[in-house]
Order: sequence, then structure tokens, then C-alpha cells
Amino acid sequence: MATTIDPATAPSLDLERIRADFPILDREVGGNPLTYLDSAATSQKPIQVMDAVDRYYRRSNANVHRGVHQLGNEATDRFEASRVRVAGFIDADPQGLVFVRNTTEALNLVAGSYARELLQKGDRIVLTLMEHHSNLVPWQLAAERAGLQLAFIGLTEDGRLELSNLDELLAPPTRLLSLTHQSNVLGTVNDIAAITAEAHRRDVLVCLDGAQSVPHMRVSTRELGVDFLAFSGHKMCGPMGSGALWARPELLERMPPFLGGGSMIAKVELERSTWNTVPHKFEAGTPDVASAVGLAAACDYLDEVGIERIHAHEQGLVRHMIDVLDESGATVYGPRDLAIHGGAVSFNVADVHPHDTGTILDRLGIAVRAGHHCCQPLMRELDVPATARASVYLYNTHEEIDRLGEGIAEVRRVFRV
Ligand SMILES: Cc1ncc(COP(=O)(O)O)c(C=O)c1O
Repeated sequence: MATTIDPATAPSLDLERIRADFPILDREVGGNPLTYLDSAATSQKPIQVMDAVDRYYRRSNANVHRGVHQLGNEATDRFEASRVRVAGFIDADPQGLVFVRNTTEALNLVAGSYARELLQKGDRIVLTLMEHHSNLVPWQLAAERAGLQLAFIGLTEDGRLELSNLDELLAPPTRLLSLTHQSNVLGTVNDIAAITAEAHRRDVLVCLDGAQSVPHMRVSTRELGVDFLAFSGHKMCGPMGSGALWARPELLERMPPFLGGGSMIAKVELERSTWNTVPHKFEAGTPDVASAVGLAAACDYLDEVGIERIHAHEQGLVRHMIDVLDESGATVYGPRDLAIHGGAVSFNVADVHPHDTGTILDRLGIAVRAGHHCCQPLMRELDVPATARASVYLYNTHEEIDRLGEGIAEVRRVFRV
């Protein structure tokens, strides 16, 4: 379940104070105040994160893990402290936390190292019809190279996973299930603890795409029991280019390196090499230290505001958004049950193409996303070429949702629908 906090009774966020932390929200777009409803694509960044990155470059920048000098040691300390901080945010063992650029890279690492190298020809990987291309294409590549099969969990009419045949799908030769925690299109939050328990009963590993959940709700690797968790720092107030893969350390031990080069080795000979300990075995070359430091600062920031309170605030916004969209006559996709609905809502306005909807909204300063949202198979399942999507975060207000409603009225006026 997404949360046990009732948005109606949760202590509300001090939005004035929070918004003051995000300088970009003061911007105007086309003479209108910016209404940023595209945080599912990437979040805005608070000054606390920008300052942490700035401080790192001004005070401590040097290459890590190699220096014998003060700055090299400071940079290494900051990098390793960031690993512990980010692992703490997802309640995980830091030894399993590999810094990567984003969710896509994290999932490619699991597919390229674990699935391609350790699974056997004929083994099956189960995915779902609501996956982002990042959680489809890497498995397709691994399947093609290693002769693996792919199978898919379907969807119900209201945009949940169709789990009635889960037993069958998880039966041998299935070895791994990779799925999203929250759909970036439908907003559906999947019950990962229950699904993982089912998978583990059959010795099937679970890889979780947390791109849309880690920024918005408490995600504990220990409570969910997953084996791999991928997420992007840039969607959770962290810098662009920050992200992580967490994996159970014993799996990382068994997995061969994904990239070869400096830092990931123990001993190098001309014909062969041995590997560094985990997680360093998976961090070849110079890492983006500043982004790791910024991501740790983002974790501090989100924890200070309170991730449960952020989640409750978003649920209040989503309830209001669905009401506003319903009143405007838009078609809303995904579940109606708020207990399983995250902060992204997809919709269409009559037969207006979502790009046109997005363009008119943009003229009013309202930023939404339009297209297939990197989910072409899901679009086919919904039988639409594309949707518009509005998504919220801690800094959004109810007034901004009202503005979205006014924007949709404008779309209707312009297109006479
Ligand atoms: C559910 C989901 N998975 C994966 C991704 C890919 O994230 P990134 O582009 O940061 O790698 C996204 C991005 O929108 C997403 O929403």
C-alpha cells in the first residue's frame, strides 16, 4: 500500500517556506506565473541541494579513492558519506549501493550483468504492461543475447496489475520479476511487499523500478524485501546525473562487472584482472562525486520536510486534480482509489491531441508532459496514441491545480470541444 497517512488529517506542509527553497518557481512563463506540473519527468531543485554541490566544488573537489592529499581524502569521505546517507534514505545496506546516472543505467546494470551473464538459456523474466521503456528494453537486449524468455503481467480495466495468474507467471522457468513501484502514466502504486513475497516463495528475484516511488513515499528495501532497487536522484530534488542501484550485496558479489576500467579492479595483469570489493566493482572510472553529494543533500532535505507528509500532501493534490479533471470533462486514466494512486495523472481532453493540450497550457505557464511517456506498449493497451500528464511534488499548491482546470477550459474553448 502507498501510505497509511490520511491526507485529510496529516499535518500540512508550510508551502510558502518550501516554495521559497525552489528559486525557479518564481519564474514567469509567457507572462504567467510558472505552474510546474511535470515533476514525474524531473523535479525542481532546492537551494540546499544547489549549495551542497557548489560547496563541494568550492571547497573539496578532487578525484576520489586515489589521493594521498587532503582534498582527495575529503572528496573520498564526502563521496562515501553520501553513499551511507542515500542508502539510509531507502533503508538499505550501503554496501549494496552503486552510484549510477539514473534509473535507466541502474536497470541496464542488472539486465546486463545479472540477467545476461548469470541466467541460463530458456530462463524467463517477467515484466508488466505498465513498464517504462527503461524497464523493458534492457531486458529485451539481455533476452536476445542470452536466449531468455520474457512474459508480462497484464492490466485490469482500472489500471492495476492483473495478478490472477501470478502463480502461473512466477512458475519455473521464471527467475526474475522486474516491475515498477509506481506507474509514471497511470499513477498506480503496486503492492510490492505482497508481490515480492509471492515471488520469493518461488525463488524468483525481484527488481524494483523506484523512479516514481522513492521521491514520493517511504521506500524501505528491508520492508519490501526486494533484491534490486533502481532510482533517479534528479526526480527527488537531487542533481541531474545522480541516481543509484541498490542490490543485495551477495548478488553484487556474484555478478560480473558491467563496465571495466579504473577503480573497479583489485589487480590488473596484461591478460586478466581481479575485481575490487562491492559496490566499487560496479563503479568504473571517476564518479560524479558532486552529484552524489547533491543527492545526499536531497535526502536530507526530503527527510527534514518529512517524506510521509510529502506523500500525504501529494495525495490531497491528486484527489483535487482528479475532481478538477472530472469537472472539466477530461478522460482520466488509471485507478480512482487514492490509496493506490501516486502523484502522476494522465488525461486527454476530448479528441484534442495531447501535444496541442500541452501547448495551450504552456501559453498559460502550465508545464505538463504530453506523449507516450516512454510507455508505448501501455499506450497501445490503453488504445490511445498519447496522453497529457500532470504530476505533482511537495511544492505544488491547490491553486495550481485550479489553474490546470482553467487551462483545460481554455483548451476546450480554442478547439471548440
Ligand atoms: C517509472 C520510470 N522508470 C524509469 C524511468 C527512467 O528514469 P531516468 O530517465 O531518470 O533513467 C522513468 C522516468 O521517467 C520512470 O518514470
